[in-house]
Amino acid sequence: MLNKSDIISKILSEKSRTPHSEKGSVYAPANIALCKYWGKRNEILNLPMTSSLSISLQEKGSHFAFEVVDTEDVLHLNEKIISAEDPFYQNLFSFIGLFRKSHSPRLHIRIHSTIPIAAGLASSASGFASVVKGLDALYGWHLEPWELSILARLGSGSACRSIWPGFVEWQKGIREDGMDSFGVPLDLTWPALRIGLLLVSCEKKNISSRKAMALTQENSPLYRAWPKQVTQDLDAIKIALANQDFRDLGEASERNALIMHKTMMAATPSIDYSTPQTHEYVQQIWQLRQEGLSIYFTQDAGPNLKLLFLENTEAEVVQAFPQIEIIQPF
Ligand code: DP6
Repeated sequence: MLNKSDIISKILSEKSRTPHSEKGSVYAPANIALCKYWGKRNEILNLPMTSSLSISLQEKGSHFAFEVVDTEDVLHLNEKIISAEDPFYQNLFSFIGLFRKSHSPRLHIRIHSTIPIAAGLASSASGFASVVKGLDALYGWHLEPWELSILARLGSGSACRSIWPGFVEWQKGIREDGMDSFGVPLDLTWPALRIGLLLVSCEKKNISSRKAMALTQENSPLYRAWPKQVTQDLDAIKIALANQDFRDLGEASERNALIMHKTMMAATPSIDYSTPQTHEYVQQIWQLRQEGLSIYFTQDAGPNLKLLFLENTEAEVVQAFPQIEIIQPF
């Protein structure tokens, strides 16, 4: 069975593992899947059962700054020092440890996330994508974006879509080593599209998406139907994007999210990321739609909702949800 280091060696081969720049900074956007990734064919390399498609969130994401130091590794997250015992510190530096030689210089890393961490808001996707972009700058590798996408996937599957702005399709690939499983940016924009972040809670979720995904795949009787559903929804979303047909886009995206959540609810033990507030918002969205407002939602591994609507309905959406944060992806 291949491990992460085997894939890193394939991509980096003879490239340097000694710093090329003393300091630098990079950025990667968060992304929201319109057609979800839920289930793996290889848990070590984060190879997915299905392809998926996302939209990147422009200025919501992770800023990653590094500086070579002659002390121990230091980490600041949102301007606060993180102790070496903290799981966030340990996860980050064990990922970085896959790339650097044990004797290579230590780093002072500052991560500034403009999106709440670990509340199903894709902070780990932008986080890992920013780390691989940062390492590329630190070591002067000049990797191709698709290679960065593969490296980011080794940190967290959805991170492979956070290398680019705009719409990105993660093509699942069929190879055992996953060298054909990476993000591909779609050559289209949609300037009128808006994403609204409707926060319910920013508390850490009680089950990680990684564990929830594994459990769903292991024993949800509904999971058998999921890959076929994704194929249909992905096709519908790509056609809707090509035609700039907002209704079709919204319907397919909302259906895909709902089916993902129903599929995990059917696992034992059942997985439910929604709170009563989430359900209330969903009812409100459906009510607004019945009244003629073209608004849809999607939901990831957390209680928060992401609304999809167009520029010309922005005022009505803000009136219905005054607390909403609006993102203009293009
Ligand atoms: C619901 O990418 O966080 O957001 O690969 O185990 O790190 P790992 O999972 P992760 O899962 C994201 C799940 C999702 C759907 C999506 O973004 O496609």
